[in-house]
Amino acid sequence: MAIDRGILVPVQAPAMTAPASITSVFSAAADTYDAGAEFQRMIAEKLASKIKALPLPAQPKLLEVGCGTGVLTRALADQIPATLKASWTITDIAAPMVARCERALGTALPGARFMVMDGTAPALAPGFDVICSSMALQWFEDPGRAIGRLSALLNRGGHLAFATLGLNTFEEWQAACALSGVAAPTRRFLSAEDFQKATPHGFNFRAEKAVFRRTYANGWEFLRRLRKIGAHRAVPEADPLPAGALRKVLRATDAPFTVSYDVIYGFINR
Ligand SMILES: C[S@@+](CC[C@H](N)C(=O)[O-])C[C@H]1O[C@@H](n2cnc3c(N)ncnc32)[C@H](O)[C@@H]1O
Repeated sequence: MAIDRGILVPVQAPAMTAPASITSVFSAAADTYDAGAEFQRMIAEKLASKIKALPLPAQPKLLEVGCGTGVLTRALADQIPATLKASWTITDIAAPMVARCERALGTALPGARFMVMDGTAPALAPGFDVICSSMALQWFEDPGRAIGRLSALLNRGGHLAFATLGLNTFEEWQAACALSGVAAPTRRFLSAEDFQKATPHGFNFRAEKAVFRRTYANGWEFLRRLRKIGAHRAVPEADPLPAGALRKVLRATDAPFTVSYDVIYGFINR
């Protein structure tokens, strides 16, 4: 479905849809996201400068997957010279996120197409020079399969560039769960090697890794920040932790509470 301006390319989407619960948690966070997205902004700015350093053709066709409120979109709009005359397709599975992104960036990116789209089942014809995504792939049902499908939309010489979370993300929270004997639902993050294996034959993959540690006043503050951006439930389709179990985990966290973000920047080149 196209939001406002833009044309929807009539292509049959491959089957694989994200759980409705993922869409609803992020839809609900659209209004608070920007206030809690300090870390996401830092990652997006780093990813945008890595994309800017790629060899881009004139008038590149860009596709963004999982745009949210436009944190990466803005960083790219600031860094990619207007003289390149890029054409933009900006997508997310959550309609309120797309609407917010379009309100924030529609004027800065005249002609950009804003669409609601499930990145795991992209309903677009091939022909992109850059496909990018920041901090969204870890929410996909099967990120490896999705990057295979997205890679297939690249032009020869094109790049898929993403930032996502790797295996050791939030290991301190996992440790607090283990210490308190609570089996909390956990998201299965992929490693750089998993993305390497998922890269289609004939495409090149390279990864850069970085671990960032952030300190919150306590475990509650950590969860409150995650709630603002819609990321407070690791597995939105699973039942939330009962209040008693959650309190047990929070008692097992330190104050201040430092958590690790294990970030993978992945680059696939056709
Ligand atoms: C943590 S936010 C990141 C947003 C933005 N890229 C940023 O860096 O701030 C994750 C985004 O991924 C979107 N998302 C989750 N699953 C998706 C899917 N299957 N297809 C497209 N977008 C998805 C969510 O709706 C949400 O807007």
